[in-house]
Amino acid sequence: MRALINYMASRTDSDFKHGHMLPRSLTELFEHIRDYTVLVDDDDKVQGCCALQSTWDGLAELKALAVSDQCQGQGFGRKLVEAVLSESGELGVECVFTLTNKMDFFTRLGFVPVDMRELPQRVWNECTSCPKFMVACDEVAMTYQGKRPKQTYIPAVGINAPAAAHAALKRQQPPGPMNTDGLTPPFAPDAA
Ligand SMILES: CC(C)(COP(=O)(O)OP(=O)(O)OC[C@H]1O[C@@H](n2cnc3c(N)ncnc32)[C@H](O)[C@@H]1OP(=O)(O)O)[C@@H](O)C(=O)NCCC(=O)NCCS
Repeated sequence: MRALINYMASRTDSDFKHGHMLPRSLTELFEHIRDYTVLVDDDDKVQGCCALQSTWDGLAELKALAVSDQCQGQGFGRKLVEAVLSESGELGVECVFTLTNKMDFFTRLGFVPVDMRELPQRVWNECTSCPKFMVACDEVAMTYQGKRPKQTYIPAVGINAPAAAHAALKRQQPPGPMNTDGLTPPFAPDAA
């Protein structure tokens, strides 16, 4: 998996100036090994992979999709995505998203472009270390069947922060009621 992903990540093809996907370290692959669905050949050699990573309440990211050059164009990419979507159904994930530069491919598989800003901030963890972040990003956010992720409030100050901190920030919360039960994230009212 490491060899396949990092080969794709380092590639420079005519359609994209830089790699097709983010590289993955061995450490990261070991830490997230249970997220991966793999395609192997008769000799047990990895020819494809795709990961599903739980990200937030009801939200998971489809990522690290790759099919080796010799296996491309035979429906394996579709099979990997479908396997991951089926797994997401079993897990009760409501919204599967992907950040991709292969919009046409994912459109064929039922994904729809969504406003990147609707995704919770934490999904940008990996983006911040990408050389293309902000300045040359060629990715679009897509969700399966156009599902919308729950919208989460980012409070101006921690709910249990000292009163002085709340006062200093004049309780600059978004409008509308906020869930402050300390058990669940403060989702926007219309998405709760
Ligand atoms: C993208 C990728 C996974 C596709 O794998 P694949 O096995 O060749 O795809 P499939 O054969 O299952 O194709 C499924 C459908 O998508 C279409 N398709 C495949 N690659 C496509 C592309 N780059 N753009 C648009 N459509 C594409 C196929 O024509 C097929 O359409 P159909 O079912 O209507 O006939 C593979 O090209 C790859 O590994 N690329 C490099 C890594 C990469 O870019 N990963 C995605 C990062 S976001």
